[in-house]
Amino acid sequence: MRLLFPLKPDDVIYRATSIPQNPLTHRAVISPLRQLGPNVDLFAILRCRRNFLANFLCIRFFSPNFDVERIMDHRARPYRSVLYIPGSKERALHKAQTLPVDAIIFDLEDAVAIEEKANARTLLAETLATADYGARAKIVRINGFDTEWGAADLDVISAAKPEAILIPKVNKAADVEALAKKLDARAETADTTIWTMMETPLGMLNAQEIAAAPRMAGFIMGTNDLAKELDCRYRPDRLPMLTGLSLCLLAARAHGLVAVDGVYNAFKDDDGLRAECTQGRDMGFDGKTLIHPAQVAIANEAFAPTEAELDLSRRQIAAFEEAEAAGQGVAVVDGKIVENLHVATARQILAKAEAIQAIAAE
Ligand code: COA
Ligand code: MG
Repeated sequence: MRLLFPLKPDDVIYRATSIPQNPLTHRAVISPLRQLGPNVDLFAILRCRRNFLANFLCIRFFSPNFDVERIMDHRARPYRSVLYIPGSKERALHKAQTLPVDAIIFDLEDAVAIEEKANARTLLAETLATADYGARAKIVRINGFDTEWGAADLDVISAAKPEAILIPKVNKAADVEALAKKLDARAETADTTIWTMMETPLGMLNAQEIAAAPRMAGFIMGTNDLAKELDCRYRPDRLPMLTGLSLCLLAARAHGLVAVDGVYNAFKDDDGLRAECTQGRDMGFDGKTLIHPAQVAIANEAFAPTEAELDLSRRQIAAFEEAEAAGQGVAVVDGKIVENLHVATARQILAKAEAIQAIAAE
Protein backbone atom coordinates (compact mmCIF):
# COMPACT_ATOMS: atom_id res chain seq x y z
CA MET A 1 0.00 0.00 0.00
CA ARG A 2 1.59 3.20 -1.15
CA LEU A 3 -0.75 5.77 0.30
CA LEU A 4 -2.30 5.72 3.72
CA PHE A 5 -5.83 4.41 3.08
CA PRO A 6 -8.57 4.62 4.04
CA LEU A 7 -8.72 8.36 3.74
CA LYS A 8 -11.26 10.32 5.69
CA PRO A 9 -13.12 13.26 4.14
CA ASP A 10 -10.87 15.87 5.66
CA ASP A 11 -7.54 14.16 5.14
CA VAL A 12 -4.68 15.65 3.21
CA ILE A 13 -1.53 13.73 2.31
CA TYR A 14 1.81 15.45 2.06
CA ARG A 15 4.95 14.09 0.50
CA ALA A 16 8.42 14.96 1.69
CA THR A 17 10.33 16.19 -1.29
CA SER A 18 13.62 16.20 0.53
CA ILE A 19 14.55 14.27 3.65
CA PRO A 20 16.91 16.01 6.05
CA GLN A 21 20.30 14.51 6.80
CA ASN A 22 19.96 15.45 10.44
CA PRO A 23 20.63 12.24 12.50
CA LEU A 24 18.03 13.17 15.08
CA THR A 25 15.25 13.30 12.49
CA HIS A 26 16.48 10.04 11.00
CA ARG A 27 16.28 8.34 14.33
CA ALA A 28 12.95 9.88 15.31
CA VAL A 29 11.05 9.73 12.02
CA ILE A 30 12.71 7.85 9.21
CA SER A 31 14.00 4.74 10.96
CA PRO A 32 10.66 3.97 12.66
CA LEU A 33 8.89 4.43 9.30
CA ARG A 34 11.32 2.03 7.60
CA GLN A 35 10.59 -0.56 10.27
CA LEU A 36 6.92 -0.51 9.33
CA GLY A 37 7.87 -2.50 6.24
CA PRO A 38 8.92 -2.17 2.63
CA ASN A 39 5.45 -1.12 1.48
CA VAL A 40 5.29 2.02 3.52
CA ASP A 41 5.81 5.03 1.38
CA LEU A 42 8.55 7.00 3.07
CA PHE A 43 7.58 10.01 1.10
CA ALA A 44 3.87 10.13 1.81
CA ILE A 45 4.45 10.70 5.46
CA LEU A 46 2.11 13.32 6.65
CA ARG A 47 -1.61 13.09 6.91
CA CYS A 48 -3.79 15.65 8.58
CA ARG A 49 -7.16 17.29 8.50
CA ARG A 50 -8.10 19.68 5.71
CA ASN A 51 -8.36 22.56 8.07
CA PHE A 52 -6.02 25.45 7.71
CA LEU A 53 -4.83 25.51 11.31
CA ALA A 54 -4.30 21.75 11.46
CA ASN A 55 -2.35 21.85 8.20
CA PHE A 56 -0.26 24.71 9.43
CA LEU A 57 0.56 23.04 12.76
CA CYS A 58 1.31 19.73 11.09
CA ILE A 59 3.74 21.23 8.64
CA ARG A 60 5.39 23.60 11.13
CA PHE A 61 5.82 21.34 14.12
CA PHE A 62 5.97 17.83 12.79
CA SER A 63 8.13 18.47 9.77
CA PRO A 64 10.29 21.51 10.36
CA ASN A 65 13.21 19.95 8.49
CA PHE A 66 11.31 18.46 5.56
CA ASP A 67 10.41 20.15 2.31
CA VAL A 68 6.86 19.06 1.81
CA GLU A 69 4.43 19.11 -1.05
CA ARG A 70 0.69 18.54 -0.79
CA ILE A 71 -0.07 15.56 -3.00
CA MET A 72 -3.66 14.62 -2.43
CA ASP A 73 -6.79 15.12 -0.44
CA HIS A 74 -9.80 12.86 -0.09
CA ARG A 75 -11.18 13.99 -3.44
CA ALA A 76 -8.23 12.25 -5.09
CA ARG A 77 -9.39 8.96 -3.60
CA PRO A 78 -10.91 7.15 -6.58
CA TYR A 79 -14.67 6.67 -6.76
CA ARG A 80 -14.77 5.57 -10.42
CA SER A 81 -16.91 2.51 -9.81
CA VAL A 82 -19.42 2.48 -6.96
CA LEU A 83 -21.33 -0.82 -6.95
CA TYR A 84 -24.73 -1.33 -5.32
CA ILE A 85 -25.09 -4.68 -3.61
CA PRO A 86 -28.43 -5.71 -2.16
CA GLY A 87 -27.79 -6.39 1.54
CA SER A 88 -29.91 -9.52 1.26
CA LYS A 89 -27.73 -11.26 -1.37
CA GLU A 90 -25.08 -13.25 0.44
CA ARG A 91 -23.44 -14.47 -2.73
CA ALA A 92 -23.10 -10.94 -4.15
CA LEU A 93 -21.78 -9.65 -0.80
CA HIS A 94 -19.10 -12.31 -0.96
CA LYS A 95 -18.32 -11.76 -4.63
CA ALA A 96 -17.72 -8.04 -4.10
CA GLN A 97 -14.60 -8.79 -2.05
CA THR A 98 -12.84 -9.68 -5.29
CA LEU A 99 -14.35 -7.16 -7.70
CA PRO A 100 -12.11 -4.26 -8.77
CA VAL A 101 -14.50 -1.56 -7.56
CA ASP A 102 -13.46 1.62 -5.80
CA ALA A 103 -16.50 1.67 -3.53
CA ILE A 104 -19.49 -0.41 -2.53
CA ILE A 105 -22.96 0.71 -1.52
CA PHE A 106 -24.38 -2.03 0.68
CA ASP A 107 -28.08 -1.50 0.18
CA LEU A 108 -30.88 -1.99 2.67
CA GLU A 109 -33.31 0.30 0.83
CA ASP A 110 -34.78 -0.11 -2.65
CA ALA A 111 -32.84 -3.25 -3.67
CA VAL A 112 -34.24 -5.20 -0.70
CA ALA A 113 -37.81 -6.52 -0.70
CA ILE A 114 -40.01 -5.63 2.30
CA GLU A 115 -40.12 -9.21 3.56
CA GLU A 116 -36.29 -9.40 3.45
CA LYS A 117 -35.56 -6.12 5.27
CA ALA A 118 -34.88 -7.60 8.71
CA ASN A 119 -32.73 -10.50 7.47
CA ALA A 120 -30.73 -8.22 5.16
CA ARG A 121 -29.91 -5.88 8.03
CA THR A 122 -28.54 -8.70 10.22
CA LEU A 123 -26.67 -10.37 7.36
CA LEU A 124 -25.07 -7.08 6.38
CA ALA A 125 -24.01 -6.18 9.94
CA GLU A 126 -22.36 -9.61 10.28
CA THR A 127 -20.67 -9.33 6.90
CA LEU A 128 -19.30 -5.85 7.59
CA ALA A 129 -17.91 -6.98 10.93
CA THR A 130 -16.09 -9.99 9.47
CA ALA A 131 -15.42 -9.67 5.72
CA ASP A 132 -12.38 -7.90 4.29
CA TYR A 133 -13.17 -5.45 1.50
CA GLY A 134 -9.63 -4.06 1.32
CA ALA A 135 -9.26 -0.45 0.19
CA ARG A 136 -12.79 -0.29 -1.22
CA ALA A 137 -14.85 2.48 0.37
CA LYS A 138 -17.76 0.94 2.25
CA ILE A 139 -21.02 2.88 2.26
CA VAL A 140 -24.24 1.53 3.80
CA ARG A 141 -27.55 2.77 2.41
CA ILE A 142 -30.16 2.57 5.14
CA ASN A 143 -33.89 3.10 4.81
CA GLY A 144 -35.24 6.60 5.51
CA PHE A 145 -36.19 7.48 9.07
CA ASP A 146 -39.74 8.10 7.87
CA THR A 147 -40.07 4.36 7.21
CA GLU A 148 -40.51 1.59 9.75
CA TRP A 149 -36.99 0.23 9.05
CA GLY A 150 -34.67 3.28 9.19
CA ALA A 151 -34.12 3.44 12.97
CA ALA A 152 -33.49 -0.31 13.30
CA ASP A 153 -31.12 -0.23 10.29
CA LEU A 154 -28.97 2.39 12.01
CA ASP A 155 -29.06 0.56 15.36
CA VAL A 156 -27.90 -2.75 13.92
CA ILE A 157 -25.39 -1.36 11.40
CA SER A 158 -23.79 1.01 13.94
CA ALA A 159 -22.35 -1.98 15.81
CA ALA A 160 -20.16 -2.70 12.75
CA LYS A 161 -18.59 0.82 12.97
CA PRO A 162 -19.66 1.80 9.43
CA GLU A 163 -17.30 3.98 7.44
CA ALA A 164 -20.19 5.86 5.82
CA ILE A 165 -23.98 5.94 5.99
CA LEU A 166 -25.98 6.91 2.90
CA ILE A 167 -29.49 8.23 3.46
CA PRO A 168 -32.13 8.19 0.74
CA LYS A 169 -34.51 10.89 -0.47
CA VAL A 170 -32.85 13.74 1.41
CA ASN A 171 -34.76 17.01 1.01
CA LYS A 172 -33.00 19.44 3.31
CA ALA A 173 -30.00 19.94 5.60
CA ALA A 174 -32.13 19.14 8.65
CA ASP A 175 -32.39 15.51 7.41
CA VAL A 176 -28.59 15.24 7.56
CA GLU A 177 -28.35 17.09 10.87
CA ALA A 178 -30.78 14.62 12.43
CA LEU A 179 -28.62 11.68 11.34
CA ALA A 180 -25.42 13.46 12.43
CA LYS A 181 -26.89 13.83 15.94
CA LYS A 182 -27.63 10.11 16.08
CA LEU A 183 -24.06 9.33 14.97
CA ASP A 184 -22.65 11.79 17.53
CA ALA A 185 -24.48 9.92 20.26
CA ARG A 186 -22.67 6.59 19.68
CA ALA A 187 -19.01 5.82 20.20
CA GLU A 188 -19.01 3.26 17.33
CA THR A 189 -19.99 5.92 14.79
CA ALA A 190 -17.57 8.64 15.92
CA ASP A 191 -15.78 8.58 12.53
CA THR A 192 -18.73 7.66 10.30
CA THR A 193 -19.31 10.06 7.42
CA ILE A 194 -22.65 10.87 5.80
CA TRP A 195 -23.53 10.57 2.10
CA THR A 196 -26.89 11.59 0.68
CA MET A 197 -28.99 10.34 -2.19
CA MET A 198 -29.80 13.33 -4.36
CA GLU A 199 -32.98 12.20 -6.03
CA THR A 200 -35.86 14.50 -5.16
CA PRO A 201 -36.57 17.89 -6.76
CA LEU A 202 -36.55 19.55 -3.34
CA GLY A 203 -33.25 17.90 -2.39
CA MET A 204 -31.61 19.08 -5.59
CA LEU A 205 -32.90 22.63 -5.11
CA ASN A 206 -31.47 22.52 -1.57
CA ALA A 207 -28.19 20.86 -2.64
CA GLN A 208 -26.08 23.66 -1.25
CA GLU A 209 -27.39 23.55 2.33
CA ILE A 210 -27.25 19.75 2.25
CA ALA A 211 -23.61 19.79 1.08
CA ALA A 212 -22.71 22.14 3.94
CA ALA A 213 -24.34 19.96 6.63
CA PRO A 214 -22.24 18.17 9.29
CA ARG A 215 -20.25 14.99 8.44
CA MET A 216 -21.09 15.28 4.72
CA ALA A 217 -18.64 13.44 2.45
CA GLY A 218 -20.48 12.80 -0.80
CA PHE A 219 -23.54 12.94 -3.04
CA ILE A 220 -24.94 9.95 -4.92
CA MET A 221 -27.25 10.86 -7.79
CA GLY A 222 -30.49 8.90 -7.74
CA THR A 223 -31.51 9.25 -11.34
CA ASN A 224 -34.29 6.62 -11.29
CA ASP A 225 -36.14 8.36 -8.49
CA LEU A 226 -35.47 11.72 -10.11
CA ALA A 227 -36.97 10.54 -13.42
CA LYS A 228 -40.03 9.32 -11.53
CA GLU A 229 -40.41 12.63 -9.69
CA LEU A 230 -39.89 14.75 -12.79
CA ASP A 231 -42.12 12.51 -14.89
CA CYS A 232 -39.52 12.89 -17.61
CA ARG A 233 -38.52 10.42 -20.33
CA TYR A 234 -35.20 8.54 -20.37
CA ARG A 235 -33.10 10.00 -23.17
CA PRO A 236 -29.51 9.11 -24.10
CA ASP A 237 -28.50 12.77 -23.61
CA ARG A 238 -30.30 12.96 -20.22
CA LEU A 239 -31.41 16.49 -21.08
CA PRO A 240 -34.32 16.59 -18.58
CA MET A 241 -31.98 15.75 -15.69
CA LEU A 242 -29.04 17.99 -16.48
CA THR A 243 -30.18 20.96 -14.42
CA GLY A 244 -30.61 18.82 -11.29
CA LEU A 245 -27.33 16.97 -11.81
CA SER A 246 -25.47 20.22 -12.37
CA LEU A 247 -26.94 21.89 -9.27
CA CYS A 248 -25.67 18.96 -7.22
CA LEU A 249 -22.23 19.08 -8.84
CA LEU A 250 -21.92 22.80 -8.11
CA ALA A 251 -22.89 22.26 -4.47
CA ALA A 252 -20.56 19.27 -4.10
CA ARG A 253 -17.60 21.18 -5.49
CA ALA A 254 -18.40 24.28 -3.44
CA HIS A 255 -18.14 22.18 -0.29
CA GLY A 256 -15.39 19.71 -1.26
CA LEU A 257 -17.63 16.64 -1.55
CA VAL A 258 -17.37 13.60 -3.79
CA ALA A 259 -20.13 13.42 -6.45
CA VAL A 260 -21.09 10.10 -8.04
CA ASP A 261 -23.42 9.85 -11.04
CA GLY A 262 -26.61 7.74 -11.20
CA VAL A 263 -26.98 4.17 -12.49
CA TYR A 264 -27.39 2.97 -16.05
CA ASN A 265 -30.28 0.51 -15.93
CA ALA A 266 -29.60 -1.52 -19.10
CA PHE A 267 -26.74 -3.51 -17.58
CA LYS A 268 -26.09 -5.55 -20.73
CA ASP A 269 -25.74 -2.48 -22.96
CA ASP A 270 -22.00 -1.71 -22.82
CA ASP A 271 -22.04 1.01 -25.47
CA GLY A 272 -24.88 2.86 -23.77
CA LEU A 273 -23.10 2.65 -20.41
CA ARG A 274 -19.83 3.87 -21.90
CA ALA A 275 -21.56 6.88 -23.49
CA GLU A 276 -23.27 7.80 -20.21
CA CYS A 277 -20.01 7.40 -18.25
CA THR A 278 -18.27 9.70 -20.72
CA GLN A 279 -21.01 12.28 -20.28
CA GLY A 280 -20.77 12.02 -16.49
CA ARG A 281 -16.97 12.34 -16.58
CA ASP A 282 -17.17 15.33 -18.92
CA MET A 283 -19.59 17.00 -16.48
CA GLY A 284 -17.18 16.53 -13.59
CA PHE A 285 -18.55 13.51 -11.71
CA ASP A 286 -16.00 11.38 -9.83
CA GLY A 287 -17.57 8.11 -10.95
CA LYS A 288 -20.70 6.13 -11.62
CA THR A 289 -22.98 4.03 -9.46
CA LEU A 290 -23.33 0.52 -10.90
CA ILE A 291 -25.77 -2.35 -10.49
CA HIS A 292 -23.88 -5.29 -12.00
CA PRO A 293 -20.25 -6.50 -12.01
CA ALA A 294 -20.25 -6.41 -15.82
CA GLN A 295 -20.35 -2.60 -15.62
CA VAL A 296 -17.22 -2.17 -13.48
CA ALA A 297 -14.46 -2.20 -16.09
CA ILE A 298 -16.21 0.37 -18.28
CA ALA A 299 -16.66 2.82 -15.40
CA ASN A 300 -13.12 2.30 -14.14
CA GLU A 301 -11.75 3.19 -17.54
CA ALA A 302 -14.07 6.12 -18.21
CA PHE A 303 -13.34 7.90 -14.92
CA ALA A 304 -9.57 7.27 -14.78
CA PRO A 305 -7.17 9.84 -16.18
CA THR A 306 -6.28 8.90 -19.76
CA GLU A 307 -2.69 8.40 -20.92
CA ALA A 308 -3.02 11.64 -22.92
CA GLU A 309 -4.17 13.54 -19.81
CA LEU A 310 -1.27 12.15 -17.76
CA ASP A 311 1.25 13.02 -20.44
CA LEU A 312 -0.12 16.55 -20.78
CA SER A 313 -0.17 17.00 -16.99
CA ARG A 314 3.51 16.03 -16.67
CA ARG A 315 4.49 18.36 -19.52
CA GLN A 316 2.45 21.23 -18.04
CA ILE A 317 4.12 20.85 -14.64
CA ALA A 318 7.60 20.67 -16.20
CA ALA A 319 6.98 23.66 -18.48
CA PHE A 320 5.55 25.73 -15.65
CA GLU A 321 8.47 24.95 -13.33
CA GLU A 322 10.87 25.92 -16.08
CA ALA A 323 8.99 29.18 -16.71
CA GLU A 324 8.96 29.94 -12.99
CA ALA A 325 12.71 29.33 -12.74
CA ALA A 326 13.12 31.86 -15.55
CA GLY A 327 11.08 34.37 -13.54
CA GLN A 328 7.84 34.03 -15.55
CA GLY A 329 4.39 33.24 -14.17
CA VAL A 330 2.99 31.61 -17.29
CA ALA A 331 4.10 28.81 -19.65
CA VAL A 332 2.85 27.57 -23.02
CA VAL A 333 2.28 23.89 -23.85
CA ASP A 334 0.87 22.68 -27.19
CA GLY A 335 0.02 26.28 -28.07
CA LYS A 336 -2.08 26.72 -24.91
CA ILE A 337 -1.43 28.86 -21.89
CA VAL A 338 -0.48 27.14 -18.61
CA GLU A 339 -1.06 29.04 -15.38
CA ASN A 340 -0.90 28.12 -11.71
CA LEU A 341 -4.46 26.79 -11.79
CA HIS A 342 -3.70 24.43 -14.69
CA VAL A 343 -0.74 23.09 -12.73
CA ALA A 344 -3.03 22.47 -9.73
CA THR A 345 -5.36 20.43 -11.98
CA ALA A 346 -2.38 18.58 -13.46
CA ARG A 347 -1.18 17.62 -9.97
CA GLN A 348 -4.67 16.46 -9.01
CA ILE A 349 -4.77 14.24 -12.13
CA LEU A 350 -1.38 12.69 -11.31
CA ALA A 351 -2.44 12.15 -7.68
CA LYS A 352 -5.60 10.37 -8.84
CA ALA A 353 -3.58 8.10 -11.16
CA GLU A 354 -1.24 7.35 -8.27
CA ALA A 355 -4.15 6.47 -5.99
CA ILE A 356 -5.63 4.18 -8.67
CA GLN A 357 -2.28 2.43 -9.01
CA ALA A 358 -2.09 1.98 -5.25
CA ILE A 359 -5.50 0.27 -5.23
CA ALA A 360 -4.58 -1.94 -8.20
CA ALA A 361 -1.36 -3.01 -6.45
CA GLU A 362 -3.23 -4.26 -3.37
N1 COA B 1 -22.91 -6.91 -6.78
C1 COA B 1 -22.12 -8.01 -6.65
N2 COA B 1 -22.30 -9.13 -7.35
C2 COA B 1 -23.34 -9.15 -8.19
C3 COA B 1 -24.20 -8.06 -8.36
C4 COA B 1 -23.96 -6.90 -7.61
N3 COA B 1 -24.74 -5.81 -7.70
N4 COA B 1 -25.14 -8.36 -9.29
C5 COA B 1 -24.87 -9.61 -9.68
N5 COA B 1 -23.80 -10.08 -9.01
C6 COA B 1 -23.14 -11.39 -9.15
C7 COA B 1 -24.14 -12.52 -8.98
O1 COA B 1 -24.20 -12.88 -7.62
C8 COA B 1 -23.51 -13.58 -9.83
O2 COA B 1 -22.42 -14.14 -9.10
P1 COA B 1 -21.97 -15.66 -9.28
O3 COA B 1 -21.42 -15.73 -10.67
O4 COA B 1 -20.97 -15.86 -8.22
O5 COA B 1 -23.23 -16.45 -9.12
C9 COA B 1 -22.88 -12.83 -10.98
O6 COA B 1 -22.68 -11.50 -10.50
C10 COA B 1 -23.71 -12.78 -12.23
O7 COA B 1 -24.97 -12.25 -11.94
P2 COA B 1 -26.17 -12.33 -13.00
O8 COA B 1 -26.78 -13.69 -12.97
O9 COA B 1 -25.72 -11.81 -14.29
O10 COA B 1 -27.17 -11.27 -12.40
P3 COA B 1 -28.64 -11.55 -11.91
O11 COA B 1 -29.50 -11.81 -13.10
O12 COA B 1 -28.62 -12.55 -10.80
O13 COA B 1 -29.04 -10.13 -11.25
C11 COA B 1 -29.57 -7.84 -11.07
C12 COA B 1 -29.17 -8.97 -12.03
C13 COA B 1 -29.65 -6.53 -11.82
C14 COA B 1 -30.93 -8.17 -10.42
C15 COA B 1 -28.47 -7.77 -9.97
O14 COA B 1 -27.28 -7.49 -10.64
C16 COA B 1 -28.74 -6.81 -8.86
O15 COA B 1 -29.47 -7.11 -7.93
N6 COA B 1 -28.11 -5.61 -8.91
C17 COA B 1 -28.18 -4.61 -7.88
C18 COA B 1 -29.49 -3.85 -7.95
C19 COA B 1 -29.52 -2.76 -6.94
O16 COA B 1 -28.76 -2.76 -5.99
N7 COA B 1 -30.41 -1.77 -7.11
C20 COA B 1 -30.52 -0.64 -6.22
C21 COA B 1 -29.86 0.57 -6.73
S1 COA B 1 -30.45 1.12 -8.28
MG1 MG C 1 -33.74 6.02 -4.86
